[in-house]
Amino acid sequence: MSRVKMPEGVAYRIDTERLLIRCWEPTDVVALRDSLDRSDSHLRPFIPFMKNEPRTYPDTVELLRTLRASFDRDEHYRYAVFDAREETLLGEVMLLDRHGTGELELGYWLDVDHTGHGYATEASAALTRIAFELGKVDRVELHCVPANTASGALATRVGYTLETTLRNRSNYPDGVQDLQIWTLFASEYDGTLASKVQSRAFDCCGERII
Ligand SMILES: CC(C)(COP(=O)(O)OP(=O)(O)OC[C@H]1O[C@@H](n2cnc3c(N)ncnc32)[C@H](O)[C@@H]1OP(=O)(O)O)[C@@H](O)C(=O)NCCC(=O)NCCS
Repeated sequence: MSRVKMPEGVAYRIDTERLLIRCWEPTDVVALRDSLDRSDSHLRPFIPFMKNEPRTYPDTVELLRTLRASFDRDEHYRYAVFDAREETLLGEVMLLDRHGTGELELGYWLDVDHTGHGYATEASAALTRIAFELGKVDRVELHCVPANTASGALATRVGYTLETTLRNRSNYPDGVQDLQIWTLFASEYDGTLASKVQSRAFDCCGERII
């Protein structure tokens, strides 16, 4: 079936060298609650959805049901990131459809106890590859505040270029701040870490699509 957003197929699971990345399931509630509760102060300054945290357990189940439904409807693709054995939740990585045709926005966060190992770089490179090779997009963007130097360093490692800084344009829990727009165009993809990352992608039936 031909899809507008992912003409070459939707990746429900992606395996990289060290990670298993898959769409969220409502049964992830215990792992997600534990991670968000431990990581609250680490995530809150930089992640808009932390405005609604801490969620109750039932509200977190509802959030996961919504994320899964949105994934299945080809709205936004949000993935849980696990270690290769799927034992430990390490964070989240996502491709959001927020800016129109030909473009997807990359987002990510890591559990506070799993930074500093390159996991977010590996997952973001794999998702960028999905956007270009399955989504056939013209560009992938990522947005972050200037104070988020860890995010900017990740963007540079994966192959993104800081395109501009919009004044007073972010909507983060700490209030309105400037917003950096980092961009990678399809014409720049070859040679980036994203094009070279070791990854395999599988559709909803487990068939390999990359
Ligand atoms: C942004 C965020 C995901 C970056 O986390 P991170 O741990 O710096 O990123 P990575 O997982 O890619 O790890 C990179 C670090 O691991 C080190 N590293 C170790 N092994 C590595 C490997 N195999 N490959 C790459 N880097 C490796 C790198 O040197 C780097 O360390 P440094 O920052 O001291 O130079 C994290 O800070 C976070 O969750 N922040 C809050 C949420 C957020 O800001 N999200 C983004 C909103 S725009």
